Amino acid sequence: MSNIIKGQCEATIQLKKLVSMVAQSNSTVLLRGETGCGKDVVAKAIHNSSERKGDLVNVNCAAIPSELLESELFGHEKGAFTGADSRREGRFESSDNGTLFLDEIGDMPLPLQAKLLRAIETRKIQRVGGKNEIELNLRLICATHQNIEKKIDEGHFRADLFYRINVFPIEIPTLSERREDIPVLVDHILDELKKSGSSIPQIDPSAIKALQEYVWPGNVRELRNVIERAAIIFPKKNITSKNVKENLLKINLPDNQDEKNVLWEMTSELTEIKTEKTEMNFLPHPNDYKKWFEMMDKIDLRRHLSEVELNLIEGALKKNKGSVTEASRSLKINRTTLIEKMKKYSIPKLGSD
Ligand SMILES: Nc1ncnc2c1ncn2[C@@H]1O[C@H](COP(=O)(O)OP(=O)(O)OP(=O)(O)O)[C@@H](O)[C@H]1O
Ligand SMILES: [Mg+2]
Repeated sequence: MSNIIKGQCEATIQLKKLVSMVAQSNSTVLLRGETGCGKDVVAKAIHNSSERKGDLVNVNCAAIPSELLESELFGHEKGAFTGADSRREGRFESSDNGTLFLDEIGDMPLPLQAKLLRAIETRKIQRVGGKNEIELNLRLICATHQNIEKKIDEGHFRADLFYRINVFPIEIPTLSERREDIPVLVDHILDELKKSGSSIPQIDPSAIKALQEYVWPGNVRELRNVIERAAIIFPKKNITSKNVKENLLKINLPDNQDEKNVLWEMTSELTEIKTEKTEMNFLPHPNDYKKWFEMMDKIDLRRHLSEVELNLIEGALKKNKGSVTEASRSLKINRTTLIEKMKKYSIPKLGSD
């Protein structure tokens, strides 16, 4: 079984089993999971555990400008477009006999999706400006952190392409779903830091417990960042749960208002990452707040509740194209109550009713 996927909790063992099962086949794999949960690691594990002799070629569809992506994937012939001075091999060809990893597939532009579908169906490609079909033998792995089904409903992703790539879906667990792996992951990250020459800190069991209580919206990548931060701030020192909470996770609300605002922005970013996955049951459960004071010292309750109210009112108005009557129905409050609240938050009345 793959040894680059660290951890031994139930969810991780299941993941490793799926990886070793699918590695033996040539089926297309779709990796789904939140940011930083290890999609790249799993793609590498599948390639390494397969018998494929060629390379693992990685393309991040979100990072390459859409006008360059086609020639990046399929290559081009000399003179195919202005600036194409010589023939160039695309990433499809480079992954012949190996594995092609199309990361952030949800960001692939629609016109290219049709070409990709054809390439997957026929296992043949044509370079941009080329006439010949080139037959290839490759295993395709796609990954996304987005809700592709929603993209299909909105018309941004082809349903037929989705069915072609969704042959063997693997849902990678979030770090919160595999908290028991945190000690192993911390050891692994410390090992790597040590190998790269850092003076690493000692992590006290109380610190591990504090790390296991945190929510980790940025998953294993965020854990790595925290441990790296620890090595910089506390080289060779013993780290306690107090250090984790106050210095490493930076969640101790300072009194100064400016700093508070910065923190507010930081946490709203984190919430954005978290809500990506829970789009189907959007709202945080009230029980989620129960643990707040185990990790935090304070909360500006009135401000927090106002923010929630303001966002829901704005959302309801947007959804109902500015109609106050309709928005009040969506919010299950009286129209007059909504108008009062809009005044309180200085929300302009845009609709005619
Ligand atoms: N199971 C794991 N074992 C060891 N390291 C891991 C594991 N999962 C993730 N990591 C580490 O966490 C970091 C993030 O992993 P990775 O880049 O694979 O995430 P990702 O899901 O591809 O993120 P993104 O959505 O941002 O592309 C990397 O440093 C990786 O080495
Ligand atoms: Mg990635």
